[in-house]
Amino acid sequence: MTQNFSDFHAALAALDDQPINPSRQYTLSEVVDRSRRGLLKGGLGLAGMAFLGGGLAACSAVSARSKLLGFESVPVQLDPAFDSVQVPPGYRAQVFFSWGDPVEEDAPQWQPDASDDWRAQLLQAGDNHDGMHFFPFPDAPTEHGLLAINHEYVNPPLHPQGMSEKDGRRPLAEVRKEQAAHGVSIIEVRKDAAGQWQRVHPSRYNRRISALTPMAVSGPLAGHELLKTAADPNGACILGTLNNCSSGVTPWGTYLTCEENWHHYFLNRDTEDLAARTAHARYGVSGGKRSKLYGWESADERFDATPDPGLPHGGYVNEPNRFGWVVEIDPFDPQSQPVKRTAFGRYCRECSVLSLGDDGRMAFYSGDDTRGEYIYKFVPNGRYVPGANQHNRQLLDEGTLYVARFDADGSGRWLALLHGQNGLTAENGFPSQAEVLINARAAADRLGATPMDRPEWLAVHPRSREVYVTLTNNDQRGDKVPLDKVNPRPNNLHGHILRWNEEGGDPTATRFEWEVFLLAGESEGARDAHGKSVPAHLTGTIKGDRFSSPDGLAFDGEGRLWIQTDFGDSEPAMQAMGTNQLLCADPITREVRRFLVGPRGCEITGITWTPGYRAMWINVQHPELSFPASDGHSRPRSSTVLITRNDGGVIGT
Ligand code: FEO
Ligand code: CA
Ligand code: CA
Ligand code: CA
Repeated sequence: MTQNFSDFHAALAALDDQPINPSRQYTLSEVVDRSRRGLLKGGLGLAGMAFLGGGLAACSAVSARSKLLGFESVPVQLDPAFDSVQVPPGYRAQVFFSWGDPVEEDAPQWQPDASDDWRAQLLQAGDNHDGMHFFPFPDAPTEHGLLAINHEYVNPPLHPQGMSEKDGRRPLAEVRKEQAAHGVSIIEVRKDAAGQWQRVHPSRYNRRISALTPMAVSGPLAGHELLKTAADPNGACILGTLNNCSSGVTPWGTYLTCEENWHHYFLNRDTEDLAARTAHARYGVSGGKRSKLYGWESADERFDATPDPGLPHGGYVNEPNRFGWVVEIDPFDPQSQPVKRTAFGRYCRECSVLSLGDDGRMAFYSGDDTRGEYIYKFVPNGRYVPGANQHNRQLLDEGTLYVARFDADGSGRWLALLHGQNGLTAENGFPSQAEVLINARAAADRLGATPMDRPEWLAVHPRSREVYVTLTNNDQRGDKVPLDKVNPRPNNLHGHILRWNEEGGDPTATRFEWEVFLLAGESEGARDAHGKSVPAHLTGTIKGDRFSSPDGLAFDGEGRLWIQTDFGDSEPAMQAMGTNQLLCADPITREVRRFLVGPRGCEITGITWTPGYRAMWINVQHPELSFPASDGHSRPRSSTVLITRNDGGVIGT
């Protein structure tokens, strides 16, 4: 087993980079041809299609400093021992909620030697804080709310001596603790009499959801044959959620947590079966002797997805089909069961970001973060009706899943993943809509979706509904992820950000126009430590502060675009980038300014605010030194950090 923290993260980063998409590549000229054939007929409403930053107005605005960005830039942090969070003058960053902090009522005090057992962990904050959202209480929205926080995965320091293995098996007690540290925390937070935000404990709302929590299934896959296992012959009750990366919210105030790299948790030892089973092979379920990430299958049969003809429903061969979904959680009802919403389709889902039209029609955007995978949107059939909660929740069970095709002329199409259309038929391996959804990647291959450089978060501008996506990086383009206008760098070490406008500003439109918002990387003319000029593929188009590997992305209410980074800060090519960061961009002038730098080894991820934007929380995931321990000796802890302005003002202004 991997004991060492940085080795573990290097191994994990390598896993993230493995492409699985077998689609044939097409050349740039084919892309151009395809786009000509699809040239937009009938024109697109000008108002709806003009980019916020496009045209002459933007050009003349570039030289002026952004009026949106009102803070002083924070420099990159080059100190190899930096173990803190730095914010601009006039701001304050406080560690707010760390791995092991008490969540549920009887949670024991966290032990700095990691000796807490799995039952304690089930009541305490999980590890690797990621996507999150602040849900305000209606009677005091700026002073009282619930924070829902994802715990994406676990790190070796979860245990006193790291992760262990005996005779090829993981100890069950360790596996259970790892499962307990996954999932979601819901915590009540409020401002005290002194105006300081506090966690409320105990609270009837506080709740831990883990890889062991029973969940309901709804939509086309509920009760389906492909969801049945030896332990769940009805395909109706799934234990837990895994690798909860980013998230989303519904207009009716529920949390959508998203299952990203779930395939690393399963093993199918039957090489032939694995190769023939699209629902495993197209998603990279592990073969060989051990699952790629933690080897849980050696202690918990549920994670051994090798078909077992001696058991009902083949044992656990369908268990991997029960992950890769959106899970809806009602944070205000601690008794409610989380629901896996299968109409959204199954892939390695990074996020699920809402765009709400004036007429109540919606789209939920998400990226499939693997090299060469796609960008999707789910459009419910019905419309959101304020206050009609029963009606609204059912909206997530019926709708159309689309995948994006980006054409070289700057136009794009949303291709519907619908059984019976465009070759998604029984002869081609899609006998029903359930199979289309469970094998969404394979269905998208058939439709000619555009393979991307690892799509991470999306964000929707609060007024224009312009959509932005981070393409975090792709350091081995190879032949699986073709070079094209939308993924324009041969060796895309630093990633880029795209944006598009749906036709007429309508979230449900099937056509859009896109452009590259920026290429991340070093400034033009930059020189390395030896005075040599930085190679072209490492040079970006950023106007302002440099960064690499954009990942987290969100708009605040005034249209500032907040960008979070996730790069390996010990990698040679990243030396000029310092540690991971939070930056803020003006979508009109395209100026980017660095707002925060984090401790060594961490990723900066997750971002949410109170209504009015006077308190902001972000997450420091897998710091490497001792953050946030004050003694400098205890183990590093992933943590939620609260950011406020000393004068109580609006963040970023
Ligand atoms: Fe969990 Fe794609 O980041
Ligand atoms: Ca991410
Ligand atoms: Ca990432
Ligand atoms: Ca991460």
